[in-house]
Amino acid sequence: MFLTRLSLTNFRIFSRLDLEIPRRVILLSGSNAQGKTSVLEAISFLATFSSFHASNDRQLLNYNLTPEPIQVGRIVADFVKGERAHTMEVRLVKEYNGNPNAPKFRKEVLLDGVKRRISDLFGQFNAVSFLPQMSKIVEDGPAERRLYLDQLLCQAEPGYARHLSNFNKALQQRNALLKMLGEQGGDARQLEIWDEVIARHAAELMQARINVLHELEYAARPIHSKLTDGAEVLRLVYQPSYEPLPAPKGQMLLLDSQLDRSGLKVEELENGYKVALRANYREDINRGLTSLGPHRDEFRFFINKIDLGDFGSRGQSRTVLLSLKFAEVEWMHARTGEWPVLLLDEIMAELDPKRRGDLIGVLDEVEQALLTATDPEMFTSDFTQRHEIWQVKDGMVFKQTQSEPSLE
Ligand SMILES: Nc1ncnc2c1ncn2[C@@H]1O[C@H](COP(=O)(O)OP(=O)(O)O)[C@@H](O)[C@H]1O
Ligand SMILES: [Mg+2]
Repeated sequence: MFLTRLSLTNFRIFSRLDLEIPRRVILLSGSNAQGKTSVLEAISFLATFSSFHASNDRQLLNYNLTPEPIQVGRIVADFVKGERAHTMEVRLVKEYNGNPNAPKFRKEVLLDGVKRRISDLFGQFNAVSFLPQMSKIVEDGPAERRLYLDQLLCQAEPGYARHLSNFNKALQQRNALLKMLGEQGGDARQLEIWDEVIARHAAELMQARINVLHELEYAARPIHSKLTDGAEVLRLVYQPSYEPLPAPKGQMLLLDSQLDRSGLKVEELENGYKVALRANYREDINRGLTSLGPHRDEFRFFINKIDLGDFGSRGQSRTVLLSLKFAEVEWMHARTGEWPVLLLDEIMAELDPKRRGDLIGVLDEVEQALLTATDPEMFTSDFTQRHEIWQVKDGMVFKQTQSEPSLE
């Protein structure tokens, strides 16, 4: 798939930006703090409906707006997917409602002019982002890796976003009841109705995670082997909080035991998880939270049977991330039948010339990619001649062939 137009209104540094986007590789070049990353952030928002940068959607609205009862930021994009043209519009709305100190904030998304629930819109537009902060996937805690998997699955697995949202809502209710039972006492069987709901959704989440990790590993292994000249075997190891398989006999190492969960049916996961929940009632009531479940899942990267998070070097982590991202692009293409739009923020600068060449090879495969760089010198003249180079300056974008900014 590819974008044909992007228009931003009051989004970050951009008051108004209107760009026609060609179906090719585009390099956004310019000094720091000009708006390059914000363009990628806006495009990525259309795929994940959250920012890869900001912890809060409010930060996306231009902060120089004059105070008005209602302020609206907009991302509007035309894109082509499977030979059909679509328009996606994201509205970020800040409303004061008479109280200047307590504005309300909401986001709305429209597809082809019709307002829709966000959980129904995942997967309409697909992007894969390569960002400097993606090292968090390896370096940070399990929450970061769950977020990574969830965002990927929301984009490519129909129904996943809905299961995730329903699971999280029901989990909150269950935790509230656990707290109440802990403080006031009462019949623990009241938990059963929440067990039913969370288990139904948890089983779908777990099954999707089992499958995606299998498929990503399958795609990433040959890529990683190639990037390391055959020196490293990469494995992605799911460590579910609720383990649906019976414990292996004896002292087998987790990695060596063939923990193949791919044959498990959704009903088996659901029933097994319910039994595990019930067995934990006392502990959960004492702690006031649900101790087992997909909200506590983990997955680890192993290289030559060694846990990368514990023992890997920075260089190794970087290469693993590149393998993972390349695999993600392939996986998404296989899953959806469409190439995702690639977004690469200052990534080239981090790579040695060989890796840079590998990355450029991937850019040639997809339909559209947008890259940012402060220093276009790092690209070969062959690259800059073949691709579009745009200058970003102070919230405006200048196409190199034009003398005027592409503002309307
Ligand atoms: N909500 C906002 N409203 C207005 N300007 C913003 C907002 N958020 C960030 N900026 C400004 O945008 C610029 C950073 O944009 P960014 O896309 O990160 O630039 P680049 O990638 O070119 O370095 C900074 O000057 C920052 O002050
Ligand atoms: Mg930047």
